Amino acid sequence: MASAYPIVRSGCAVEGILSSGGWTALMCADSTDWDTAADDWSRQLNAGFDRVREEYNWPAFVDLLGPLDGRDVIDLGCGNGAMTRRLATHASRVTGLDTSRKMIVSAQRENAAPNIRYDVVCADAPFALQQRESADLIVGFMLLMSTRRLEPVAFGAERALRPGGRLCLALLHPCFSHGGMEWAKCDGAHAINLFRYSSRSDVPGVVRFQTAREAGRAGFSVKRQERTLEDTLRPFLSAGLRLSALHEPVPSAEAVAQNGHLRRWRNVAPAFLHLVFEK
Ligand SMILES: C[S@@+](CC[C@H](N)C(=O)[O-])C[C@H]1O[C@@H](n2cnc3c(N)ncnc32)[C@H](O)[C@@H]1O
Repeated sequence: MASAYPIVRSGCAVEGILSSGGWTALMCADSTDWDTAADDWSRQLNAGFDRVREEYNWPAFVDLLGPLDGRDVIDLGCGNGAMTRRLATHASRVTGLDTSRKMIVSAQRENAAPNIRYDVVCADAPFALQQRESADLIVGFMLLMSTRRLEPVAFGAERALRPGGRLCLALLHPCFSHGGMEWAKCDGAHAINLFRYSSRSDVPGVVRFQTAREAGRAGFSVKRQERTLEDTLRPFLSAGLRLSALHEPVPSAEAVAQNGHLRRWRNVAPAFLHLVFEK
């Protein structure tokens, strides 16, 4: 059992923020970037290690996307294209964009389809999304923790969306899944120790991904930006987008029955935040 987004703060870790069984993830001193992590990421996703995504995060997120039929979609931070291809089974055209060239090469190799185009684009570079009013839907699934600045993402999305278009974002919950908290037990039940939220550091956190199913493999580490809820929302509202939905999904009772590691997010606090902005 595994999550692709587990985080444990070093020193005072009680349990991982998102640990769900087989994963160990430690905050560590060094980090690589997504380009270096691309092969490990693809291997772990393709092996189906990310059960939290399949059983909890994606099913809740997909409900927010609205109709895909006939739509032009941009998948921002598309990784190896696993979700891009799912979107492309319904959408008219999907453009998968990622800052990592190796991710894009994996996507082209593993998740190609006639209606998908992949390209190397850094979402928080100025004018990343050049084509004005070219998309009906922009998806950013688990991207924002990696982008250093949100303003260019927000303004780029506002520019690229057609009137009435939607920007749908999934991210680790800024309040309940960050480097200033840890999972604990209180009277035998899951609890959260919070020791830093508003006084977050300007230095990005570092997340190490490692799976117990792959003993002997080193795993990988990437930087993670720490933002409050307010700092997460403000750039999108300032760009003129309208927040039309804010969801704090919890795993379904059925999912918890299948995978007890999901229980804490149903009983205590959601791991993810899902946002829908409209132009
Ligand atoms: C957690 S992975 C998610 C990948 C994909 N959305 C999925 O869920 O399978 C984050 C992805 O965002 C990409 N990324 C990070 N910073 C980015 C940026 N500034 N612009 C575009 N992509 C970025 C990384 O290369 C990585 O592929």
